Amino acid sequence: MIYLDNAATSFPKPSIVAEAVYKQMTEVGGNAGRSSHQGGLQSGRILYETRCAIAELINCKDPLEISFTLNATEGLNTVIQGSISAGDHVVTTSMEHNSVLRPLVEMESRQVTHSIVWGDREGQINPLDMKKAIQPNTRLMIINHCSNVTGTVQPLGELMKIAREHNLLVLLDASQSCGSLPIDVEALQIDFLAAPGHKALLGPQGTGFLYINKKNKIKALKQGGTGSRSEDLHQPKTIPDYYESGTQNIHGLAGLKAGILFVLENGVDHIHAHEKKIMTQLWEGLSVIQGIQLFGPPPDGCRGSVISFRGKNLDVNQMNYALDITCGISARAGLHCAPLAHQTMGTYPEGTIRFSPGPFTTPEEIHLVLAGVNDIMKELG
Ligand code: ALA
Repeated sequence: MIYLDNAATSFPKPSIVAEAVYKQMTEVGGNAGRSSHQGGLQSGRILYETRCAIAELINCKDPLEISFTLNATEGLNTVIQGSISAGDHVVTTSMEHNSVLRPLVEMESRQVTHSIVWGDREGQINPLDMKKAIQPNTRLMIINHCSNVTGTVQPLGELMKIAREHNLLVLLDASQSCGSLPIDVEALQIDFLAAPGHKALLGPQGTGFLYINKKNKIKALKQGGTGSRSEDLHQPKTIPDYYESGTQNIHGLAGLKAGILFVLENGVDHIHAHEKKIMTQLWEGLSVIQGIQLFGPPPDGCRGSVISFRGKNLDVNQMNYALDITCGISARAGLHCAPLAHQTMGTYPEGTIRFSPGPFTTPEEIHLVLAGVNDIMKELG
């Protein structure tokens, strides 16, 4: 198998990730923050070390500003539902995933309105368009850092400047960038950042985190047991307890810690440089295959490790099936849960095939992939 579906979930995971999960399951018992015996204390330490690893990765000064979530969707929902209220307006982009778009549509029933700023054909948002979309009641700007459809990276610095000038809160969806592109929440002055653990952080599915700059107090998505202040029927106000009700996914988070340590040890810059080299090989090779149409920005600028394409006169699902069955290539076809991104590119409603290489993809694999696409185009195109 040649795995080019890292944007859906990374594979393979480094062996230290699987070992950490196994160790937590077989050698460390106990519930972090609940069990006061040695296993519970060790689990608590692992949770804290995972927060510290995330904080180091995104340059957040206080690890307690990191809350664990089930995935990026839960983090995004926490901010969208907890930071704005009736009468507020939100600005966002056409490159968002449904994990942003659907909560925003749902918020319409709570009298929260939103405006979508459309990108160009490559998915780039013009900061001036974002500025024009701001209204007197705009409170939150949501930015997709790197598109899961095209790999387009938005001009964060310029968008942040506009947000600051208008006193807006900013939520960064780093689902496709955290772990493969550098992020500095301190330098950018980001208010909230949501990311999954199972993509470029190389952790297990069912893990994720939300960074909440502690100057911002938002409403938690749920209430429940935190292992702290059990005598009080009100949710404790201390962070991260306020945002973390219920038993944590300690097995998954032990794996996430190992994944992030792998990323930190290898260096985000190094991983990004490797993926960029692979992307360039892929883009250049696909662009000379008869009948292949490529979407999104070319690989010379700053972009993520995602390529969208389709074969002329070929159904994307049929082609994706052929890639899987005849060439052993794992990719994802369709709309990628981001219908407006496809409208932006002009590939709606049929969508595209997406190749998303990862840190372990090799030039030899890409060579085979290009030969496979070429064969399919000759046979079916
Ligand atoms: N959001 C993930 C993807 O793009 C699952 O495939």
